[in-house]
Amino acid sequence: MTPTLGIVVVAAGSGARLGDAEPKAFVALRGMPILERALRGVFDSVEPAQVVVVAPESHLKAARTIADRVAGPASSSVAVVAGGRTRQASVAAGLAALLPAVDTVLVHDAARALTPPALFDRVARAVRSTAGGVIPALPVTDTIKRVGVGAVVLDTVDRSDLVHVQTPQGFPRAALEAAYASATEEHTDDAALFAANGGSVTVVEGEARAFKITTPWDLRRAENVLGAQTAGLRVGTGVDVHGYDEAAPLWLGGLYWSGEPGLAGHSDGDAVLHAICDALLSAAGLGDLGSRFGTSDPRFTGAASAVFVRETLALVDGAGFAVVNVAVQLVATRPKIASRRSELEAHLSSLVGAPVTIGATTTDGLGFTGRGEGVAAIATALLTASV
Ligand code: CTP
Ligand code: MG
Repeated sequence: MTPTLGIVVVAAGSGARLGDAEPKAFVALRGMPILERALRGVFDSVEPAQVVVVAPESHLKAARTIADRVAGPASSSVAVVAGGRTRQASVAAGLAALLPAVDTVLVHDAARALTPPALFDRVARAVRSTAGGVIPALPVTDTIKRVGVGAVVLDTVDRSDLVHVQTPQGFPRAALEAAYASATEEHTDDAALFAANGGSVTVVEGEARAFKITTPWDLRRAENVLGAQTAGLRVGTGVDVHGYDEAAPLWLGGLYWSGEPGLAGHSDGDAVLHAICDALLSAAGLGDLGSRFGTSDPRFTGAASAVFVRETLALVDGAGFAVVNVAVQLVATRPKIASRRSELEAHLSSLVGAPVTIGATTTDGLGFTGRGEGVAAIATALLTASV
């Protein structure tokens, strides 16, 4: 059966504000072109649809390859056409490629690459039930001001009935085509063009993830959204134990603790930093502190252990990971860390470049820590693939 829904995905812009050499739709977003991400959302929606991709003249072949990859066996039903100088001209080119059976059209920006599939279905359903235009919208959360010449604030706009709108924007095909045929000026979106021709438009709830990638900051945001949900997360664990050495100064968590027994070891014996290094190496699959730096390397005799952390972070970064956070538990009767916990966490966080939290426990008098022979530190690190 031929679909009665058509989805026009406009991807013919240059992306001037993004500032990449490639047109925006072909810029990689975590290793996959923005257009490919956008089409995945389109193809994951439930209702079967004829998809029309509108690409820059220079990138028709590249767009075809991407469309084929996403559509798989359905690739023959995907049209790829060249866009125009303005978004409006590009939409018009896309509409011209719709099959006769299509009675409902969604127009979507490829730049809204992370739009959830459900939004396509929500808008299409609402177009059918209202027989009018439908656009996804979210409430305006910032206070809005009107500003005049000389950067002078004139007044505060009542935002209670303001929304900001997204795509896909949906319309009955015939009415949208009629509106495009009679459009004499540029409109900021399809709904404005549709309304200018007498069409009525209602809103459905939008999606935060349907935000438009416009600037490099938006691209980072999209990367972060993907990073948080992908399988690129890796957890690692590290344990370190050192016995007390009454003659040594105590360095723990990179801080000096006056009046406390120090820790024995080849370096400064900082069990907290060593456990953190082991957790980071473990998460990245890079072995452990001993195998990486050697317990007898003369370079590290008496070394301040921050050097291990910096070396470890360089290895982790080189393996393509970024630290999400680190959690540490100190098992010891001394020192008591409670009064310096925030100082300790701030210091460790700046050392690691990600949030580090630390807690402590005693062992109820049991074992070597309970007998006051030494300390143990246990660390857990979470990493995310940085590329
Ligand atoms: N678009 C298009 N044809 C154009 C201009 C824009 O198909 N002549 C598409 C873009 O590819 C994008 C969507 O319309 O998916 C929204 O436009 P925008 O975010 O402004 O993208 P660009 O125009 O490419 O970016 P810029 O304005 O920064 O140059
Ligand atoms: Mg533009």
